[in-house]
Amino acid sequence: MAHGLSAQGMVVVGGQWGDEGKGRIVDALAEYCDVVVRFQGGNNAGHSLHIQEKSLVLHLIPCGIVRAGRVSIIGNGVVIDPDVLFEEINMLEAHDVPVSFANLKIAQHAHIIFPYHKLIDAARESSSSSPIGTTKRGIGPCYEDKVGRFGITVHDLFSPKVLRQKLERALARHRDELSRINQPYPIEAMLDWANNAARGLLPFVCDVGETLDGYLRAGKRVLFEGAQGSLLDVDHGTYPFVTSSNCIAAQASIGSGIGMTKLTDVLLVSKAYCTRVGEGPFFSEASIEEQDLFRRLGNEFGATTGRPRRCGWLDLPALKYAARINGATATALTKVDILSGLGAIRIGTSYCANGQRDLSFAEALQKFQEGENVTMAYQDLPVMEPITERVNSLADFPATIQELCRIIENHVGVPVRMISYGKKRGQELWL
Ligand code: IMP
Ligand code: MG
Repeated sequence: MAHGLSAQGMVVVGGQWGDEGKGRIVDALAEYCDVVVRFQGGNNAGHSLHIQEKSLVLHLIPCGIVRAGRVSIIGNGVVIDPDVLFEEINMLEAHDVPVSFANLKIAQHAHIIFPYHKLIDAARESSSSSPIGTTKRGIGPCYEDKVGRFGITVHDLFSPKVLRQKLERALARHRDELSRINQPYPIEAMLDWANNAARGLLPFVCDVGETLDGYLRAGKRVLFEGAQGSLLDVDHGTYPFVTSSNCIAAQASIGSGIGMTKLTDVLLVSKAYCTRVGEGPFFSEASIEEQDLFRRLGNEFGATTGRPRRCGWLDLPALKYAARINGATATALTKVDILSGLGAIRIGTSYCANGQRDLSFAEALQKFQEGENVTMAYQDLPVMEPITERVNSLADFPATIQELCRIIENHVGVPVRMISYGKKRGQELWL
């Protein structure tokens, strides 16, 4: 098998701040899998796929949907904006990808993003003196309601009595904040919206945990598609500059309702350099001029919000940290082709602050929070010649890439199992 990965349950997660290219890897792996599952986040994600001449961005539905015969699942850990879901289904059908219960299943216990969640998210961002730089999709406020125990799930939409009660309670909890921003939400309007959402969702809803258990028992291969990235994880990321869900591999079990012992392989995806959108620490951030170059060569603009991404060099200690918190069994290195336009290439190897050297990622974050200047020490790699159109083995890559893989494996302690070197499907090498 091209990818050489044998697990029945495999998780693909981002090793940085999202946008590592997980979408194209999931798309490539989906060829060998039966089921693809999303287990956290919502339409804050943007997974770009380039299939033949078509470019397509998915925000909510797993990337597996574009492969015929694969089942896509939205797990209970995801927050769903029904309007976005319906739009995405329409977009797929316009691209000749039919969507029905045969290929899309949605967890009954996933939480619903209501229009007021988006208003609250946007209002807080614009009024805060230290904004997070969220995607303003209502993700954080929806997860807050969930852990606050007054959120509304897919299942709640189907019972008029329960829905009215829960909406009344939720709106009461948000009343002050909504009236401060001049959005006194009438319950009847919200009920209409929710009933419409219920009608659209109904054909896809099931007990996803049970369905997945059945697939696993039948020997099917299940791929868990992470969104965002490890450093945006609400527990382990660069808090408070994070998203509001757990994005690391363990969440695949919680966010889909299957036992963690079913997940045996964790593929950690990293770009050959580094980007982040939104505020927060970024120790290997490049100079303004270098960032322009990264952005131009790598098209580093948000797939969801269109914002220019902050760009910088590969940060090895952060990647090592991500490998640890995910229990990564392998890494995938993406966009190595971009390195050939950059001139001399740098790799961040360690952090220093206030005369202290070789700080761990956690220590560096602590220093950052205390207002100290954290600097990154770099190793230089020589200018890289362009990559040939087709690559069949590691030896076909320029020496710089071979060296980069050796450095990553030595530092991070897990093998590089895949390298992607172009936008097109097939421009990836499995090692
Ligand atoms: P939120 O998830 O919209 O609440 O945004 C919180 C932080 O996560 C912000 O810095 C966003 O830019 C970032 N973020 C959320 N989703 C993604 C993603 O899919 N890729 C990259 N950054 C993301
Ligand atoms: Mg993205």
